[in-house]
Amino acid sequence: MAEFTPSLLSWYKKHGRHDLPWQQNPTCYRVWVSEIMLQQTQVTTVIPYYQRFMQAFPDINKLAAAEVDEVLHLWTGLGYYARARNLHKAANTICSEHKGEFPESQDELINLPGIGRSTAAAILSLSLNQPLSILDGNVKRVLCRYHAVRGWYGEKKVENQLWQLAESHTPLKNTAEYTQAIMDLGATLCRRSQPDCEVCPVRKGCQAYEHGLQAELPEKKPKKAKPVKQSCFALIENKAGEFLLARRPPAGIWGGLWGFPEFASKTELDNWLENRGIRTKNNNEYPQIRHTFSHFHLDITPLKYELKGNAIKAVEDKTDECWYKPDGDLKLGMAAPVKKLINELFSSEPGETE
Ligand code: ADE
Repeated sequence: MAEFTPSLLSWYKKHGRHDLPWQQNPTCYRVWVSEIMLQQTQVTTVIPYYQRFMQAFPDINKLAAAEVDEVLHLWTGLGYYARARNLHKAANTICSEHKGEFPESQDELINLPGIGRSTAAAILSLSLNQPLSILDGNVKRVLCRYHAVRGWYGEKKVENQLWQLAESHTPLKNTAEYTQAIMDLGATLCRRSQPDCEVCPVRKGCQAYEHGLQAELPEKKPKKAKPVKQSCFALIENKAGEFLLARRPPAGIWGGLWGFPEFASKTELDNWLENRGIRTKNNNEYPQIRHTFSHFHLDITPLKYELKGNAIKAVEDKTDECWYKPDGDLKLGMAAPVKKLINELFSSEPGETE
């Protein structure tokens, strides 16, 4: 673990990025603008925007004196425009409340719009070599892998653990180099997919590398539990051993497919039986089936009814209902759980041979 920082620093000397525009004359102002532009945006996209911005607003007074529309105009195409509004607003605050002198403490910077703990640390470490730790997305990925940190890093508990680890690696000297080095490692070798572990300066000591967990870490945000909807299928059997199927409306789930009449509850099912004048002898509840769609689970309760008396007369006149027997000639498009139920119903019939 003690090896992490020296190995990273010597790698950075040879392989890191040293000629980015904001690394030349790295004043707080210049580094601040670069860090804001680099939030959510790749270095190669940022460079031309950064150069135009610095030509138009070479110092904080020029930025504060500009109209916000001029600032937004230079931001056009970079996206996340709140960043540009916040830059302009913060420049005005610095001019009015700090006499145009860029604040040099992390606490003061965090109070400005658009600057969080990590951005404040990046600005002060890169421009003034202050021994402050950063923890942006790239650094989170590096640390999650190096220490095999479990859990989603958007969770406070995991994030706090990562801040502690970030601080444990940050050197008191050469912090500017270290900050750029760990960012570069995350951006160039310790990539989200297919990291280049074979040439990584910290693979010795990396828990993810040792245990082959690079693809698993960092862990993803846990998926929200899918909602569960309930439904009842009416399995109505006539004396000929056929089941009533209905064609579903063209829109909605299983649109246009054939299936058992479906209801949101047993009460709705019972009302329907009554309205249609369908009389049944007995009913049987079958075990629930869970069918999973992309956005919800459908828990289906199949209820089997034996018809009392003759077949439902109305069925014969309808084009969207039929009596169905699996060994008959009728070929129908059916939803998966319907097909499964039919197979089960017929294979479990007494006297059925395989
Ligand atoms: N992403 C955020 N800050 C950066 C920096 N200083 N250099 C490269 N990528 C970055």
